[in-house]
Amino acid sequence: MKSKRLHKSEGYVFVIFMCCVLQTILTAPLPDLHGLSNCDLYITADNTTQELKCSIQTGQVLDYRRVRGWTALQSTGTFSVHITCNGGSLHMPWPFKAKHVVALQVNGCKLFGFLSEMTQQQSVEDELRTLMLYKTTIVIPFADMYALRNNLDRIPRDTDCGQVTLEKLVLRDVHYDLQMTPEDRDRMSPIVHNTSIGHDAALLPTKSPCVFPNLKYVDESGSRKTGQYHLKLLPDYSVFPKLEVYNMSRNELSHIPDFFRYLHSDKYPSLRQLDFSNNILHSFEFEIPKNVKTCTLEKVDLHNNRIAFIPKETTDTLQNIGTILVDLRENPLRCTCELKDLRVYLEAQYRKSANMTRQLISEVTCSLRSAFHGTMDQVSLLNSGFDKKCG
Ligand SMILES: *[C@@H]1O[C@H](CO)[C@@H](O)[C@H](O)[C@H]1NC(C)=O
Ligand SMILES: *[C@@H]1O[C@H](CO)[C@@H](O)[C@H](O)[C@H]1NC(C)=O
Ligand SMILES: *[C@@H]1O[C@H](CO)[C@@H](O)[C@H](O)[C@H]1NC(C)=O
Ligand SMILES: *[C@@H]1O[C@H](CO)[C@@H](O)[C@H](O)[C@H]1NC(C)=O
Repeated sequence: MKSKRLHKSEGYVFVIFMCCVLQTILTAPLPDLHGLSNCDLYITADNTTQELKCSIQTGQVLDYRRVRGWTALQSTGTFSVHITCNGGSLHMPWPFKAKHVVALQVNGCKLFGFLSEMTQQQSVEDELRTLMLYKTTIVIPFADMYALRNNLDRIPRDTDCGQVTLEKLVLRDVHYDLQMTPEDRDRMSPIVHNTSIGHDAALLPTKSPCVFPNLKYVDESGSRKTGQYHLKLLPDYSVFPKLEVYNMSRNELSHIPDFFRYLHSDKYPSLRQLDFSNNILHSFEFEIPKNVKTCTLEKVDLHNNRIAFIPKETTDTLQNIGTILVDLRENPLRCTCELKDLRVYLEAQYRKSANMTRQLISEVTCSLRSAFHGTMDQVSLLNSGFDKKCG
């Protein structure tokens, strides 16, 4: 790693060279990290982005408003903030805006204060290009959610959209923990049963869509939904002109959300890969694009779902388009004549694919009752002759 570590504590500067790159860093003025005792500043060799690394131990709380206050005072450069919780927690209000911060990564944190600035007018410009939250639980007291629900019209549009400068968004294994006291439960039960608070329609009333002009990659894999209570950081009412990959793997989904039903949409005209693997989908619920010529989609990953059958109209359309690979490995497909067309489509895909994809296609299996033992065997759809007797 071509970086040097600058650790300032009580006015004494330690410089540890992690590589052989020598620069004039020693003479450069060091920003004062006072108030951020859990954080160290690293400067990359090219001196373009400075990395602020914070580690929060058990019993400690890092208030992102302090980080925000600190970066606002810096006059040069941009910052990449990297926060890891080792038992400690983080106070960080959505939409995480901070001056000069272009990248933000959070690992293993309990995140508090998420809704605390929802109705405040944001004074900081959007600058964030990369936002990555891993294994993070966003703790939301029900009372906060309830209060917000009554003030939806006071949420500024900026806050609704988050940061539209994003290029990459990763919310992997991010959960919402809606905390409800018994009193909350009594007070709120009529609301709880009637509306889906925080869901798109509620949080984002009839406003014009948020446009994310640079967003290319979204990973929301591994989100456990706590019933109807979940806030999606990316609202359904958005437009992603450059979006290439959307990852919804491991979301416990039994249906495709409406937003993705149309595999080709003006909302995401550049989509290449859609990952719905490791869910509990029972059928191929997508609408296949009509305008074949402009479809950029290359792969729909449906491996490890519960799909038993693909209708002929679907395989016919896929066959016509020819460029979309549907990964159907690890699905309970049954080797019946109804799968004949799927086989034709897979064969065509196989012929035009490179090695690795061929491997994948040949791993698509269906279950066939063995003539000898009466057991169900998994056979490769491509290699078995189950459809020989079909008309
Ligand atoms: C490197 O950082 C120093 C201090 O932060 C700044 O004065 C200098 O202009 C930077 N150099 C480059 C090439 O960005
Ligand atoms: C909530 O649901 C109950 C029962 O379904 C109904 O009687 C009541 O009118 C609903 N309240 C609202 C505000 O929709
Ligand atoms: C989606 O995320 C999972 C991890 O949760 C990863 O293994 C997979 O490769 C990702 N898919 C794409 C298309 O990036
Ligand atoms: C993969 O492709 C290369 C050429 O591109 C070929 O030589 C090789 O035999 C292929 N491997 C398999 C397993 O098909």
